Amino acid sequence: MESFSCKTEIISGVGAIWELSRLHAKRVLVVADPYFEKTDLPEKLRKALQAEAVEFFYRVQPDPTVELSAEGTAAVQAFQPDTVVALGGGSAMDCAKAMAYFSGLPIRLVAIPTTSGSGSEATNFAVLTHNGVKHPLIDPSLQPELAILDGNLLNSLPKSLIADAGFDILAHAAESFVATGAGAISRSLARDAFTTALVYLPPSFHGDTRVRQQVHLAATMAGVAFSQSGLGVCHALAHALGGQFHLPHGRLNAILLPAVMEANQEANPHYADLARGAGLGGTADSMAVRNLKNALRRLRKELQLPATLAQAGVPSQKVRENWAAITQSALSDPCCATNPVRPDKQMVESILEQVTGVG
Ligand SMILES: NC(=O)c1ccc[n+]([C@@H]2O[C@H](COP(=O)([O-])OP(=O)(O)OC[C@H]3O[C@@H](n4cnc5c(N)ncnc54)[C@H](O)[C@@H]3O)[C@@H](O)[C@H]2O)c1
Ligand SMILES: [Fe+2]
Repeated sequence: MESFSCKTEIISGVGAIWELSRLHAKRVLVVADPYFEKTDLPEKLRKALQAEAVEFFYRVQPDPTVELSAEGTAAVQAFQPDTVVALGGGSAMDCAKAMAYFSGLPIRLVAIPTTSGSGSEATNFAVLTHNGVKHPLIDPSLQPELAILDGNLLNSLPKSLIADAGFDILAHAAESFVATGAGAISRSLARDAFTTALVYLPPSFHGDTRVRQQVHLAATMAGVAFSQSGLGVCHALAHALGGQFHLPHGRLNAILLPAVMEANQEANPHYADLARGAGLGGTADSMAVRNLKNALRRLRKELQLPATLAQAGVPSQKVRENWAAITQSALSDPCCATNPVRPDKQMVESILEQVTGVG
């Protein structure tokens, strides 16, 4: 038995932001990444929205905290919008989702991602940080009604953001593909998203803006897939490490993903399937999986991403000092519940051991 639903309408294409006019919104609060305050995008959105009143909330920071979302919730309650538009990466979208959710108001949620990675524009997740721990909230009402994927917003993406967010796509797709909640439909989305990201991330990283719309759509597809299937221990550890060391979420996934595949050997038939879908076959499953892990390591290198936490600037001594807290936080993350093998302390510690590095 398989059930699949995605309530998010997805409009994808260059110039898609102009479709906002068909919302006929009256009062709109735009929750925007501060990066956009000095660009011409807010003015374009104002024109596209054609609303009676548009206000901007520019206070989003990477990895939004519970305190920031409470401040934003007060802004929502004061302005009483009928529509909240999230403009930015996963952090802006998660902050906007939490603001709308905690306001208790009947709000239409629209997401305009400006990075290609989190998939938050089409997921039922919002990740909030509290006291150094990242907590994923999971609720159907966090799923935006509309996602606008406009390739025009991606032309000025810095290389490091393409790389970091790109590995978030790969981690979402790979974890979704092997998750206990996966079905034929979510696997098909995850497989296509994985292959697209693998093929198009290098040209996008090296400056080819023509392929970015495809990578953008892959991010959304991986988001739709994991909303259905759940994620796994890669994300549980990325949340635990991100809360402690404040490294970009996708960069942590890049460090973790090959080691997680190593730890999840029971899922090898599915990883082999994923590898073959991406043209990385091998006669035996074990060979296909080895090719898959090597392809991820090669891509990580090409995108100038670190292979260990030490290379990412976290001294191994710091990891050792926080070992128990990281392990505990990862094991209590809800993403563990859908990992193909139920993670235990030994598994999490063996992954952590592999990614700590020297220095
Ligand atoms: N809700 C979900 O389903 C979900 C899934 C995965 C990750 N996440 C969360 O998303 C966050 C990561 O999101 P992200 O990778 O999109 O990064 P981000 O939103 O944290 O943004 C990173 C940086 O990129 C800048 N930026 C954004 N768009 C830009 C653009 N077009 N040009 C130049 N700079 C730009 C921002 O100002 C910020 O400094 C993490 O907090 C992670 O936990 C959420
Ligand atoms: Fe993620």
